[in-house]
Amino acid sequence: MQAELAIGVFDSGIGGLSVLAHIRKSLPYDNLCYVADSAFMPYGCKPEYVVQERCMKIAAFLVKQQCKAIVVACNTATAVAVHQLRTLYDMPVIGMEPALKPAVGHSRSGVVGVLATSGTLGSDKFQRLKKRYAGDAELIVQPCPGLVEAIEQGDLESSEIRDLLELYLQPLLENRIDTLVLGCTHYPFISSMIREMVGENVVIIDTGDAIARELKRQMQLPVSSMVNRPEGSLRFWSSSSDSTDIISRLWGENVLVSHIDI
Ligand code: DGL
Repeated sequence: MQAELAIGVFDSGIGGLSVLAHIRKSLPYDNLCYVADSAFMPYGCKPEYVVQERCMKIAAFLVKQQCKAIVVACNTATAVAVHQLRTLYDMPVIGMEPALKPAVGHSRSGVVGVLATSGTLGSDKFQRLKKRYAGDAELIVQPCPGLVEAIEQGDLESSEIRDLLELYLQPLLENRIDTLVLGCTHYPFISSMIREMVGENVVIIDTGDAIARELKRQMQLPVSSMVNRPEGSLRFWSSSSDSTDIISRLWGENVLVSHIDI
């Protein structure tokens, strides 16, 4: 019975698809529901209460779709709303945060860069994370206004993205970071451009696979229930009416994206 329920995943837009791909790989038999709140992106420059309201509406929608767990595939939404969601729903609610702990662990020079939205970096949650894991490392944090909007346009090679990245990576490179945290789920989609700019010697850290592992752990599926089962279903929704092309392109196959009016 439980296995027929779905896992709900959402983001301010298409960024969470980078997390959904890891979830699909790690839980191929589970039904997955994805909501892109593309009409309301970006979350990163909006007041906390606005983002919280959006998260509550999307979570309520996912619960209506028979979800047994919710993944907040957005660092910004996690920072301001995951606590509220966990209080409200008696099911696993998995959130994301910039991977400071592994980054500080990896860094040899002790200089770590973090790219994220202004909302994530300005949140109390991020301040607590810094206090807990930065230790003696020097963290160079860089908010990236405009970058999520540019990625949502769909041209991942655009000169707009290149110009913004050059601007935002410059202070990090000047400070000689050796490790870079991608603290927003949109950024893995431009990781090859980031790699080109930071060079081969900087370790780039993304949290998508760690979230999928944590979700799998919390789902606690017995191994016996995972054999001889058909692949789980996949359903997509967006609050914007023209997300089908970009979601299909980033997902790598043509998918149906329904419009949700919430
Ligand atoms: N993907 C979201 C994140 O991880 C982007 C937030 C936004 O819309 O600004 O933070």
